[in-house]
Amino acid sequence: MGAPEPKVTTETLRQKKARGEPIVVLTAYDFTLGAICDQAGVDVVLVGDSVATVMQGHDTTVTVTLEQMLYHCELVARACKRALVVGDMPFLSYQVSVEDALRNAGRFLKEARVEAVKLEGGRRVLPAVESLVAAGIPVMGHLGLTPQSIHQFGSYRTRGSDSDEAQRIKEDAQALAAAGAFALVLEKVPAALAREVTAGLPIPTIGIGAGVHCDGQVLVSYDMLGLFTKWKPRFARRYAELGTTAAGAIERYCEDVRARRFPNEGESY
Ligand code: KIV
Repeated sequence: MGAPEPKVTTETLRQKKARGEPIVVLTAYDFTLGAICDQAGVDVVLVGDSVATVMQGHDTTVTVTLEQMLYHCELVARACKRALVVGDMPFLSYQVSVEDALRNAGRFLKEARVEAVKLEGGRRVLPAVESLVAAGIPVMGHLGLTPQSIHQFGSYRTRGSDSDEAQRIKEDAQALAAAGAFALVLEKVPAALAREVTAGLPIPTIGIGAGVHCDGQVLVSYDMLGLFTKWKPRFARRYAELGTTAAGAIERYCEDVRARRFPNEGESY
C-alpha cells in the first residue's frame, strides 16, 4: 500500500486552475457516499443544502436548518481523507449579521470538521465573506441561480441571460474574489458568460449548468446517480440508474422473504 494521497486544499485548487486542470466537485450527505466520492478521486465534496430536496423531500433548499447541515457535514467530513470538504451554510445562517455569520461558519469548522464553507450571493454578502476570511475560514461563493433566493426569483430559469444581470454577475464575481473567496460556484448561467467570468477571475469557477469552460464542475450526487428522479435539470447527466437498481433489489428481497427463500442455511446460525 502506497502513502496516502495528500489532502486537497484551497491552494491545490488554485494550482489546478493555473495548470488548466479541471476540478471535480460532487455533493454528498453521509459517511458512505462521502467515502465513495473520496476514494473515487473527487477533489471537493460539497455537503450541499440540496440535502433538503434530494434527501429530505422538500421542494426548495430554504427549509434546511443549521443543525441539520452540521449533522450531515460531520458525517461526510469523517469519511473524506483526500477530498476538501465544503459545508453549505443554510438560508439565514449568514444573512442576519456578520457576527452571526462568523459564529455559524465557525461551527462548521469546529463541530462538523469541514474545511471550508459555501454561501450564496454577491456584493450583499461581502461583509460576511470578509469577516470569515479574516478569521481564517475558507469561503466558496455561489452566483447565478442561487436556490436559497427562489421565492425572490420566482422560478429556476437561467440567470444572467440579459446584459444587466450578466454585468451584475461579473461584478459580483470580482467582488467575491477580492474579498478573499477561494472559489466560486456558477449555477445555471449561459456558457459564454461563465467562460468570460472564468477567464477574468483569479480564483477557480465551479460550474453547474454553466458550460464546459468553468475551471471545474459540480453535480448533485443523487441526480447523477439516478437516485433522485422527482425532476431532472438538463445539465444533470445521469451516470447510473441506482434508483431503478435499488427498487429491483428490494422487490427481489420482498419476493424472497415471502417465499421463504431468505435466509438460506448459509445465512443462518
Ligand atoms: O446545494 C448544492 O448541492 C449546491 C450545488 C448545486 C452547487 O449548492
